[in-house]
Amino acid sequence: MSPATPSHRNIVLIGFMGCGKSTVGRTLHHILGYPLVDTDSVIESRSGKPITRIFAEDGEESFRDQETTLLAELTTHDPACPQIISTGGGIIGRPQNRQLLRDLGYTVWLRAPIQVILQRTRRNQDRPLLDTDDPANRVRELLTLREPWYAETAHLQLETGGLTSNEIATGILESARYFFSQHPNPSCPNP
Ligand code: S3P
Repeated sequence: MSPATPSHRNIVLIGFMGCGKSTVGRTLHHILGYPLVDTDSVIESRSGKPITRIFAEDGEESFRDQETTLLAELTTHDPACPQIISTGGGIIGRPQNRQLLRDLGYTVWLRAPIQVILQRTRRNQDRPLLDTDDPANRVRELLTLREPWYAETAHLQLETGGLTSNEIATGILESARYFFSQHPNPSCPNP
């Protein structure tokens, strides 16, 4: 994918379930004071029901449509007011979404070892894709499918193992500042 300059100066977090996007998103929000947009939470509040019910009652495609609609809406947000955008793990499945994510800002792929992912998602009831007899195998399948999409979308890959959310957020921030200094866009302030 071309290294085009994003039209916005958001910091966008992508990555598999259980890799810490929401926690790191909140930490960046506290450090920078930028509004935090969690795509899962926005979709849940718009639908008036949790993701498990959206999947069960409306189907996964309906959820994916809402993700695409939301990303397109975010590109119309005032570029002078950057945000932290934390996304659901499957948002990179559609080519259109991958383009939108890269256009929205500095896109960071948070990674974690599979053992950590399995442990963090083990007792979780609110992830319908892992509600199977063999969640570990499902995680492996989805990771294999998605890793090339995360790689294609991300400006930065970050191995989070052993790091605190503060350390991760600080690293992202330094790296984002450097990236934006190399990709200036006069209508956006630097983070
Ligand atoms: C999904 C990840 C979830 C949520 C939905 C689907 C996925 O978000 O969007 O359950 O396809 O990986 P998290 O990554 O925040 O758990």
